[in-house]
Amino acid sequence: MGEFVTVSVDEDGVATIRLDRAPVNALNRQVWAELGEAAVRCGSDDDVRAVVIWGGPKVFAAGADIKEMAETSFTEMYAHGAGLQESLRELERLPQVVIAAITGYALGGGCEIALAADFRFAADDAKLGQPEILLGIIPGAGGTQRLARLVGIQKAKHLVYSGDSVTAGEAAEMGLVDTVTTADDVYEEAMAAARRYARGPYALRMAKRALDEGAELDLDAALRLESTLFAASFATEDARTGMRSFIEEGPGRARFSQR
Ligand code: HXC
Repeated sequence: MGEFVTVSVDEDGVATIRLDRAPVNALNRQVWAELGEAAVRCGSDDDVRAVVIWGGPKVFAAGADIKEMAETSFTEMYAHGAGLQESLRELERLPQVVIAAITGYALGGGCEIALAADFRFAADDAKLGQPEILLGIIPGAGGTQRLARLVGIQKAKHLVYSGDSVTAGEAAEMGLVDTVTTADDVYEEAMAAARRYARGPYALRMAKRALDEGAELDLDAALRLESTLFAASFATEDARTGMRSFIEEGPGRARFSQR
């Protein structure tokens, strides 16, 4: 259990990765490292069936710790910068469905953490953006890449070049967030969605791999990956359960064992 990042798992198998560094969850090197460790822990725990990442009721994360960055030289950042990206790779590659529950600010590295999740649920008071350019630097944890892949390069250019942040409503319009709700409800809504995925079949992991890894491949290779994973889904107990349940009880009634 880290000093600034904790993991708790509820009885439904939903893990909450909680960022907790007052006042704004500024991401110093220790937070990045603990976030990577939290992701590895969730990925290797068979009892974790879905993940919510949450910065608390007021703020998701206002980005990298600017006071720490101000003291960081080129050679230090060259040595450590890739490690920051690696933490988000761990998060992104989790086999479970991951939902970011965003209140307040998700700026810079905070927005980049949210971009590594499968879904972003935002509070109506949320503000998202990549303000790095205003500091004389560029996004360094996926903000020029995952953002462009998600919302398109043109909208990403507007955000990254200007450093302007967008409201939750604007973010929803551009596809940057998936749902908008009140700040009081956003964590519970994310948990409710995560619980639904936690009850899903083992094949959810295969669907996630097919979509995420396939997006990096040319169409032929991606279709071959899909084919292999499709066939692999037949090896699961849940496939037997799902099809038998349909035949005997109709659609949507299967109770899966995640095996
Ligand atoms: C360190 C920060 C911080 C940050 C806020 N604080 N953001 N400290 N790093 N990123 C501190 C403030 O200095 C202040 O400390 C306290 O938190 C509260 O902030 P205020 O500015 O007083 O609050 P408010 O007026 O409500 O404004 C909140 C804010 C603003 C909009 C979030 O603070 C802001 O613009 N922060 C910077 C956001 C940013 O540029 N993020 C991108 C960072 S670069 P004191 O001690 O005065 O109370 C990045 C690169 C990622 O993320 C690269 C990854 C590899």
